[in-house]
Amino acid sequence: MAESVRVLLTEEEVDKRIKELGEAISRDYQGETVHLVCVLKGGVFFMCELAKRITVPVTMDFMSASSYGSSTKSSGVVKIVKDLDEPLKDRHVIIVEDIVDSGRTLSYLIKMLGDREPASIKLCTLLDKPERRVTDVKVDYTGFNIPDEFVVGYGLDYDQRYRNLPYIGVVEFN
Ligand code: IMP
Ligand code: MG
Repeated sequence: MAESVRVLLTEEEVDKRIKELGEAISRDYQGETVHLVCVLKGGVFFMCELAKRITVPVTMDFMSASSYGSSTKSSGVVKIVKDLDEPLKDRHVIIVEDIVDSGRTLSYLIKMLGDREPASIKLCTLLDKPERRVTDVKVDYTGFNIPDEFVVGYGLDYDQRYRNLPYIGVVEFN
């Protein structure tokens, strides 16, 4: 089966929106240090771009949680593949995700990281598919709400491919 990728959000649109999110975070965290927690691998492109647009002091850590095999539907099983290097106690944490889909991964992570006594914990996602939500998750910063389509690029993969696309696209099977 041949695959192609249709552009959903251009590189310019994504960059512009990330700049706006960085400005909003910089305003909201005036006088604080923001601790960005990247959910690998999908969140990494977004987090790097976002971090560059934040003007208050930033620290970063990385973790890897997996609820996906190579299929295009969430399994609902969350596995911590790599935990954070540093404690979260008394930090202002922002979890940075590529996409919130069913919400299962994030509701699990927010609970788990919230138990580590951060000063505050918020969620920032580049993409949100609100129609697909099965678990209630409060998203504090959203790049774009998108329709229920399987997207790739800007960190998002299909079977580990397409993460490096500088735009968001929809995989089509022809
Ligand atoms: P959730 O637990 O269903 O919210 O799934 C979240 C994870 O599923 C995301 O962090 C992605 O890794 C993956 N995912 C969900 N939708 C898509 C998509 O459209 N393209 C690529 N990965 C996706
Ligand atoms: Mg992810």
